[in-house]
Amino acid sequence: MRRPKISVIGAGFVGSTCAHWAASKELGDVVLIDINGDAAKGKALDLFEASPVEGFDSTIQGGSDYSLTKDSDVVIVTAGLPRKPGMSRDDLLSTNAKIVKECAGQVARYSPNAVMIIVSNPLDAMCHVAMKASGFPRERVLGMAGVLDGARFRAFIAEELNVSVEDVQAFVFGGHGDTMVPMPRYVSVGGIPLEQLLPKDKIDAIVDRTRKGGAEIVGLLKTGSAYYAPAASAVQMAEAIVRDKKRYLPCAVYLNGEYGTQNLFCGVIAKLGAKGLEGIPVLELNETEKGMFEKSAFAVRELVEAMDKLGL
Ligand code: LAC
Repeated sequence: MRRPKISVIGAGFVGSTCAHWAASKELGDVVLIDINGDAAKGKALDLFEASPVEGFDSTIQGGSDYSLTKDSDVVIVTAGLPRKPGMSRDDLLSTNAKIVKECAGQVARYSPNAVMIIVSNPLDAMCHVAMKASGFPRERVLGMAGVLDGARFRAFIAEELNVSVEDVQAFVFGGHGDTMVPMPRYVSVGGIPLEQLLPKDKIDAIVDRTRKGGAEIVGLLKTGSAYYAPAASAVQMAEAIVRDKKRYLPCAVYLNGEYGTQNLFCGVIAKLGAKGLEGIPVLELNETEKGMFEKSAFAVRELVEAMDKLGL
């Protein structure tokens, strides 16, 4: 039986950590691609040599040649520059648009049926670039942001309540930027609504920390951005796809009228299975949530228009 194939583009911290988790979960065979082919090859070999110790059976290959990725089921695109302190994700727009365009074109050439998971920033805008460059339908271009932002939200709630992270369900809507929309009204802790467990000021503080979660890590690392939580999140999406789990996960998808939004990637809950995007359950938003979602979608649209003006 053929094992699923997962390729990761970009062998930096996020990419190599994705390869690590995908291999250790035995999601399938893993390929790591980077413009620095030897670095990708070295990391792939190093990871393969860890497999007897950790006990996972996955082949792991690395290099700069996209033909290694041929017929991948899932491709995780992490290529691009990370943020440095003081930069917003949007500051990466033109550099990363060129990189993601090149990568997505190559991915489509060798794996015309793959599902692409975009991780490069500014996330929602890079999803547009990848969809255009690959020619893939919206079902097969997904952006990783909501699982990460939701994970931060869940981690901070669990810490505040001193409960297991496993019992905290929470998600974040909107673009992966300063306007993202954590949704406290939909948080449940073992089935109990968060409002019954925490006062409003504590919830507000957690919401604020979640929104700035990426910048908090950039401020500490100083030379780059987060990678453990982003990689874990991308791999959770990949797992939902290769194992056809039909999971409801928050991620950036191309909206075709859902939530009153047309032709725009933005974070919502999506159903993920073997075909990629398999459905978008549309939640009821109250007026405040709707207003925040629209503001966040507007911020994404401005970036997409800026790229159009720059001919990217
Ligand atoms: C973050 C970056 C990866 O949120 O966008 O950490």
